[in-house]
Amino acid sequence: MTTDILEPSRAKRLKASTHETHDRLDTSIMAAAPFATIEGYGRFVTVQYLFHRDIGALYDDVALQAILPGLMERRRLPLIVADLADLGLSLPQDDTPPAFAQTAAIDIPEALGWLYVAEGSNMGAALLRKEAAKIGLSDEHGARHLAPTPEGPAAHWRTFTAVLDAAELTAEQEARAVAGANAAFARVQALVDARIG
Ligand code: HEM
Repeated sequence: MTTDILEPSRAKRLKASTHETHDRLDTSIMAAAPFATIEGYGRFVTVQYLFHRDIGALYDDVALQAILPGLMERRRLPLIVADLADLGLSLPQDDTPPAFAQTAAIDIPEALGWLYVAEGSNMGAALLRKEAAKIGLSDEHGARHLAPTPEGPAAHWRTFTAVLDAAELTAEQEARAVAGANAAFARVQALVDARIG
């Protein structure tokens, strides 16, 4: 779409380029109504665990930390692990190795695309947190990973997108960022299809 290319903000271009995959994901998750029961919610947290396990290595990457100050504090995997423990669930097993490994060289533009999806999902989390509260879960029990940071989801997101927008990428690198974001959505969709749908 021409409008995607003209959009000055990279975050907004990523949003436009992944709009369809995100819509499909929201629809599949909400259609399965995982927030109606604790069991369903447990399956949702399982999906979150496997997605955040995929990107765990990104938060430890020195090059990414230099681009994104405070990156380590954005990691939600430990909160997801604590949520699973609250729910009495063991860590999910998956034969697929994580998408990013600590030992392998990380492609920065591709990683930015995956991080866009993980960080952006905090915006949806504000809504999901309210659903989780209806089944008795909270920021201290079972829904820790959906809790907003002290500055609030909107400000937290703006800090991230400002850095994302400022990163200097060539057109070819930008295409890899878009591919990374779409791969991240595809991974979450596959997990939802296999474990929630
Ligand atoms: C783990 C699953 C999910 C992922 C990975 C995800 C990803 C994202 C991303 C990347 C954004 C940022 C879009 C942008 O402004 O650039 C976003 C925003 C949002 N998401 Fe999702 N999402 C997920 C689940 C959901 C679900 C189930 C809902 C509920 C229907 C939802 C509703 C929203 C809403 C309302 C926004 C804010 C849109 C806006 O402010 O423009 N998300 N999500």
